[in-house]
Amino acid sequence: MIEEMDFENRIVSPEYNYTDSDTEVSLRPKTLDEYIGQDKVKDALTVYIKAAKMRKESLDHCLLYGPPGLGKTTLAGIIAKEMGVNLRVTSGPAIEKQGDLLAILTSLNEGDVLFIDEIHRLSRNIEEVLYPAMEDFSLDIILGKGPSARSIRLDVPHFTLIGATTRSGQLTAPLRDRFGVLLRLEMYTPEQLAKIVIRSSNILGIEIDTEGALEIASRSRGTPRIANRLLRRVRDIAQVEFDGKITLDVARNALSRFEIDELGLDDFDRKMLSVIVNNYGGGPVGLETLSAAVGEESVTIEDVYEPYLIQIGFLARTPRGRCVTSAAYDHLGIKPNSDSAQTSLL
Ligand code: ADE
Repeated sequence: MIEEMDFENRIVSPEYNYTDSDTEVSLRPKTLDEYIGQDKVKDALTVYIKAAKMRKESLDHCLLYGPPGLGKTTLAGIIAKEMGVNLRVTSGPAIEKQGDLLAILTSLNEGDVLFIDEIHRLSRNIEEVLYPAMEDFSLDIILGKGPSARSIRLDVPHFTLIGATTRSGQLTAPLRDRFGVLLRLEMYTPEQLAKIVIRSSNILGIEIDTEGALEIASRSRGTPRIANRLLRRVRDIAQVEFDGKITLDVARNALSRFEIDELGLDDFDRKMLSVIVNNYGGGPVGLETLSAAVGEESVTIEDVYEPYLIQIGFLARTPRGRCVTSAAYDHLGIKPNSDSAQTSLL
């Protein structure tokens, strides 16, 4: 077991944490024009929004999927603003009873956007309320119990459901089929993230040059939320120990102090890779075994840590378990053992 780490406050975690609270909201782009990257998603939404507005209809239900921190909530806000309607935000785990969802649906106005984050965590009996609401904008409510029970049909306003999930594979087929638009968010390139860092610096009044922005961007694991968080932390060091301006040297100095390497890996990533290398000959190792060895829940490993390691080609998911690749060995400065099981797999 590796030593205890403060996962909640991991500086490169793509998940939202309390240090992001006020600034993250002020940095969110409000229109599609302001939104950097995700060109395919933006192009598709531009057309669908325009078409819906021309027909004076609500936008089709949209499912946004992809790793955390890439801007699903931001996009929901932009869609609502571009459509000129209200946004209502909730999440799968927050809707516990059918009544919770009924209360939300009946309080919407015509055309409103309802955003359900982590929609794969909705329970089945709640999904059942959602199906007729999504399809016919109606609710079937059962009154009473036993032989005297009767069902009444209630209309709800034409709304747009925007579902967000990190795991589209876990959505039930009937729910997935009811979304007219499926949009996959991709990790950002360092150049796109550098533009985001410069935009955020302008909003926050931070002085930064292009090289400084690109340095922060290339260590942000393809994720705007991480880029904006690193920007704020690097600014602190620039202010206290330098003249306030973020240059390449200042960014490098600060980021090495946070133990974030050139690829954006932190202590935990390096330890997880080392555990696979040192304890399991580089893999394959099953997810549950790995989870016990590093002391982190398997879903967190899958949703939070692995996507970036897979994206940069350091980790592979094989049918027999996780394997560390030769690129990761190079990065860690370890020589692969030629007779280990993983060498023959990769
Ligand atoms: N801030 C966070 N994500 C952003 C994006 N995609 N474009 C512009 N600013 C952002």
